[in-house]
Formats: sequence, C-alpha cells, structure tokens
Amino acid sequence: MSKKVLVTGGAGYIGSHTVVELTNAGYEPILLDDFRNSNESVLEGLNKILGKRPEILKQDVCDTDYLRGYIKQNKVSGIIHFAAYKAVGESVDNPLNYYQNNIEGLVSVLKIVAENPEIPFVFSSSCTVYGEPKGQKEVSEKTPKTIPTSPYGFTKWLGEKIIDDLFFSQNTLRLMSLRYFNPIGAHSSTHIGELPIGKPNNLLPFVTQTAAGLHERLTIFGDSYPTIDGTCVRDYIHVVDLAEAHVKALDYLIRAAQGCHEIVNIGTGKGSSVLEVIKAFEQVNDIKLNYEFGPNRSGDVIEIYANVDYAQELLGWSAKKTINDAVKDAWNWEKSIRSIE
Ligand code: WQD
Repeated sequence: MSKKVLVTGGAGYIGSHTVVELTNAGYEPILLDDFRNSNESVLEGLNKILGKRPEILKQDVCDTDYLRGYIKQNKVSGIIHFAAYKAVGESVDNPLNYYQNNIEGLVSVLKIVAENPEIPFVFSSSCTVYGEPKGQKEVSEKTPKTIPTSPYGFTKWLGEKIIDDLFFSQNTLRLMSLRYFNPIGAHSSTHIGELPIGKPNNLLPFVTQTAAGLHERLTIFGDSYPTIDGTCVRDYIHVVDLAEAHVKALDYLIRAAQGCHEIVNIGTGKGSSVLEVIKAFEQVNDIKLNYEFGPNRSGDVIEIYANVDYAQELLGWSAKKTINDAVKDAWNWEKSIRSIE
C-alpha cells in the first residue's frame, strides 16, 4: 500500500498539525497548498518537528487537471481536504470568494475521487452545520442540521450535501466528513501553531495576542446569555487531538470493506464558557489578561458542545488533551513567534 496521503491545505493550522500526526503514524503526507492563506515558514516548523521537509505541491486545489495528473503518476492511499477559507465575517463581505474557493475546491478534489474510487476521502466540516441547537445543547450527528446564516457556514453545509449526492451516485466510495467543534492550541514543540492573517476573529488567538500586547484588551461578546456565567459556551478541542482524529478517520476508511459517507463529530464532549477559557488561560500561564464585557456578537450561537460517542464507537478516538493543555500550548506558541521570554 502506498503511504502517500494528499493533504490539501496542508500548510494551514489544522492541516500542518495533521501532517505531523500522519507522519507519526507512518504515512507520507504530500502537502498541496498555494500559500494564499498560510505562510511558508510552516514548512520550516514541520522540518524541525519531523526532521525533514515534507513534500509540497504549490498548487491551487481548484486546478483539477493538475490534481488528475498528479494522481495518475503517484499512487496515494487517501486525500484529506482542508484547503478552504474559514472566516465567517469575511464570507459575509465576500461571498463569491467563499463559494468559489470552498465549493469549487471541494468539487475539484471530489472529481478526482470519483475518477479514482479506491481513494478514501476525508472532508473538513464544521459544527456550524447545527446552527443554534434547540433545547439540548449537546449535539449528536443525528441532531437535525440547520442552514447556516453565513456563506462560510453554508459552504460546509453544502459541502456535506455534495458528498452525500456523490455517494448516492457512486456507493463504493469511502468518504468521511468530520464536524470540528472549536480547534485551539498548538503543537507542544512550539514549531507550528495558528497564524491568523490580520486581526483574529476567533477567541484563543485574540486572547494570546492580547496577552502578547498586540491588542490593548479583549472584548467578551455578551455577559447575559442563559449559560453558566452569562458568556457563550463552546466545545474547545486541542488541535493535536483533532489532527489525530484525521489519522483515525483515514485508517478507518482504508480498512472499510464497503462504501460509506460517515459523518462524525470531533470535539471533547465538554462545553466551556468564554470566561472559563480566559480563567484557564490566566491560571495556567500565570498572566492577567486585560478584558472587558461588550455587546453580543451578532449571529453567535449561545451554547453548543459535541456528543462524541460516535467518534469513539466508529474510530476508537476521543480527545486526550485538556483545555489547560491547549491554553498553555497556545501561549507558548504565541510567545515563540513574538520572541517573548
Ligand atoms: C468563540 C466564543 C465568541 C472573540 C467559529 C466558526 C464556526 C466554527 C467554530 C469552524 C464566542 C467569543 C470571540 C472575541 C469573544 N468553526 N469571543 N471575544 O463563534 O464558535 O465560531 O468556530 O468551522 O464556524 O465561526 O468561534 O472563536 O469566534 O468564538 O468573546 O474577541 O468566543 O462570542 O462565544 P465560534 P470563535
């Protein structure tokens, strides 16, 4: 069996951590990334961790002819498709870029999978497909989906539907959509981590950048939600755990005796409020964070966390790292890129 795995968006945040875990598991990841939303310094970080520079194809994932040519000449044992835009606000301002890159990119890769039905395929989906859960805050894969309000969210919703439709037409394909909850943290080596371009939208990078002095203070969006302490609740998962889930997903599909489109929640199963994350960050890293309460952020889900039973049952995977591990690794990473002692 070829050990090669094509990882689109392999230089991105989740992609680069998955490249490490794939290598640790004996696979040979081939990164496909045109660096439009990532930095080539990631390759040096990977080199430090792995002791070798991974093979990189500097290509646009929408270039189906390129992909076709590559797969013709190189046997791969799987494709993991990360390459996509992921900023909610930006997608509202620029929907066509999101539909083009996220949908066209997915279709481009799926064409190759359809033409090479022996290749297993893993898709980066998102808990955004659940929208605001009604009643129960813990969502399982059986919880009904709702159409997300942002174009970004809709590309994930539609992405799953496109994969469903493809599977309906070709039921020997082995496909899996992983619904990520909120990935945070960094590799404990501090050689790779999250590198947001511009002002971060997500909580943890804003926390670490504020602690590093890049922003005067963090604004907590809302303090009077019906939650444990009035702030929103999410399921924060360490990016290394998430990366490992991709290895398990690929292992599963390679062994699968028949076609499938499996959909699996990847979270910790535990909700944490914004204040709890901040308290953990302050306590673990012995830092006082400057923050204030501000108005609710429009469109924010109040409370959601994963039911992770199916991930355990199907993949034998569950998250091992804690939120304390994640806030420590995130801060060490931020310090390393800002040269803070
Ligand atoms: C987390 C919490 C904010 C910044 C995103 C994507 C979604 C999905 C998960 C992938 C919220 C609060 C944030 C700040 C704050 N991912 N916050 N001050 O909202 O769960 O969604 O990740 O597909 O599609 O949209 O994550 O990190 O933006 O926010 O108070 O400066 O932190 O209100 O409660 P979210 P987030």
